[in-house]
Amino acid sequence: MEMISRVLEKFKELFGDEGEIRSYFAPGRVNLIGEHTDYNGGHVFPCALDMGHYAVARKRADKKVRLFNMNYEDNGIQEHEITGLSPNDNGLWYDYQLGVLWALEQKGYSLDAGYDMVMWGDMPAGSGLSASASIELVAAVIAKDLFGLDISMPECALVGQYSENHYNGMNCGIMDQFASAMGKADHAIFLDTAALDYEYVPLNMEKKKIVITNSMVKHQLAGSAYNDRRRESEEALEDLQKVVKIDALGDLDDAGFQKYQDAIKSEVCRKRAHHAVYENLRTMEAVKALKSGNIKAFGKLMNESHVSLRDDYEVSCDELDILASEAWKLPYVIGSRMTGGGFGGCTVSIVEEDHVDEFKKTIGEIYQKKTGNEAKFYIADAADGARRLL
Ligand code: GLA
Repeated sequence: MEMISRVLEKFKELFGDEGEIRSYFAPGRVNLIGEHTDYNGGHVFPCALDMGHYAVARKRADKKVRLFNMNYEDNGIQEHEITGLSPNDNGLWYDYQLGVLWALEQKGYSLDAGYDMVMWGDMPAGSGLSASASIELVAAVIAKDLFGLDISMPECALVGQYSENHYNGMNCGIMDQFASAMGKADHAIFLDTAALDYEYVPLNMEKKKIVITNSMVKHQLAGSAYNDRRRESEEALEDLQKVVKIDALGDLDDAGFQKYQDAIKSEVCRKRAHHAVYENLRTMEAVKALKSGNIKAFGKLMNESHVSLRDDYEVSCDELDILASEAWKLPYVIGSRMTGGGFGGCTVSIVEEDHVDEFKKTIGEIYQKKTGNEAKFYIADAADGARRLL
């Protein structure tokens, strides 16, 4: 609550304290397993974090928004009309807010007015923990709540994804927005991205912690490389569809892939498809293992996921490979892998609780020695999804 009072204070300072002022929160996410499967009709297994974006907002009488972000005070107040917005790929914080207003309109949810808003994020941006989805979802819950829109939370996630795809030019899947919208404390979300069916799975990892390690690097072209991977997966699917009736790579099992893989003409696309198919199978197996209390098996699948992302999907980088492979050497690490889109950002590791400090020290030192960078660590506590606070 201390966080939101800081934001509220700023709101009153900038926009005055009259009228009905409401507050909101939308989290970032960490994905435990199931990477680059969400646009391939596969499964993912993320959880929402207790870090994200807080926002305070008040309805206006006209069709303007005035937006202020305490993380980017220098940007000042961003004032925009909510009609006639045009897509761009600048990727600035307010583009993710405006994109949602644009997407709501495209999907037929009309807002009769705009709002004043101040927000503040307590999570790192550009680190693969979905700060952008958290900004989108905070915009979606503001619109839903302030204007009484008849829109479900999964639909809010879809609006967020639509805005990111068509307003911000990033061809992402549904995982990040879904996790931010639908998170549940102490649970991860086992989501079938083809049907949007989901199940909350308790994260009762006895005496273990989920530790996020931020490499503090983000390689250039991460966005365009992501869109390339998506295209390569689509090309593989098109080749496969000439020989087998499937809607997505996630429809194939091991036998199916072995039988039909030669239909994929390009070797690169075959590797991408290999990852998408087996990562989906790994995710289903990992959830089964977790449910039956076999955390060791879960960890092993996490490690395999990293190898596949590194070798077949080629979305890792030296920094992430160092973090994961050094973690694998430690006897108290159950599993470790890159998480999110890749090309920098974070790893996620399951670490025995009593050794978390040792983990941070050991990995921090090796990483610093090998790369010159200082890693940052966060303990991930699975938390609730986007919501109104006060
Ligand atoms: C990014 C995208 C997600 C997903 C992951 C990779 O976070 O936004 O939709 O594709 O990469 O799993």
